[in-house]
Amino acid sequence: MNTASTTPVTAVIVVAAGSGQRLGYGMPKAKVPLSGDSILVHALRGVAAAGIAQQICVAIPPGDSELQALCESFARDLKAEHRPGAPAEQGVQLPVVTVVDGGASRAESVRAAMAALLPDTAAVLVHDAARALAPEAVFHRVAKALAAGAVAVIPVMPVVDTVKTVEPTTGGLAAVAPELVTGTAPREALRAVQTPQGFDLATLTRAHEAAAGLDAGRAAAITDDAMLVELLGVPVHAVRGASQSLKITTPLDLIIAEGLLEGPLGVRWVEG
Ligand code: CTP
Ligand code: MG
Repeated sequence: MNTASTTPVTAVIVVAAGSGQRLGYGMPKAKVPLSGDSILVHALRGVAAAGIAQQICVAIPPGDSELQALCESFARDLKAEHRPGAPAEQGVQLPVVTVVDGGASRAESVRAAMAALLPDTAAVLVHDAARALAPEAVFHRVAKALAAGAVAVIPVMPVVDTVKTVEPTTGGLAAVAPELVTGTAPREALRAVQTPQGFDLATLTRAHEAAAGLDAGRAAAITDDAMLVELLGVPVHAVRGASQSLKITTPLDLIIAEGLLEGPLGVRWVEG
């Protein structure tokens, strides 16, 4: 019989199985160097620093032994930091690090990680490795809202650009002005969405079960987990995100992330 503690477990899933096409490094984005470490190591350090997880479950490209080794080495370093008497031990539990093969879409990678969660898991935060610099404060805001009873919580930022809807231009101007504006979205009601996104595990499981049968095209269009929960009609709450949680997608994003880490004031000058 398992006599381990029945305290509900919080897990953080880190999805890192993408190929990084838009970054264009010819390698999975998780491996791309960022200020002396890989993007994945930065992301894992951020998760560990937040101190909210009893398990960190990482989805990597299937069979990627280099990333597997990197996660194992990260887990060893964490353990060394948490040895009895080490300063990091105080008040922060040592999380278990689990590595799984991700899938062909982000949603499949999330599902692969969900299948490897510890038995007593009650809450799960799903985080993009690509948001490698997400600050601890955002993890805490999401975890706090979950602890207060929310079943789905996402970090968001106000939208700074005016956002319009468009359709393809028809007729003579199509060659020089390919799109025609159909409307302007009310900016004050719009939010840009980040990760980590937090869920009660039962809700996230239900949301992903509903999406598991989608074809490849529709599966690729699932860019976050909250959209699946919204489809269930379950309320999704929002907390403040952070500008340094930018998703490293293009070469410009990598330059910005490097600037945040190496600039004169370091990443701390940006509001948490
Ligand atoms: N992701 C994943 N499994 C996939 C696709 C994406 O785990 N099959 C993860 C990525 O590793 C990333 C996050 O989902 O941390 C967000 O995806 P994105 O920024 O699109 O990363 P990539 O898919 O790697 O990039 P690209 O779309 O440019 O190829
Ligand atoms: Mg992608």
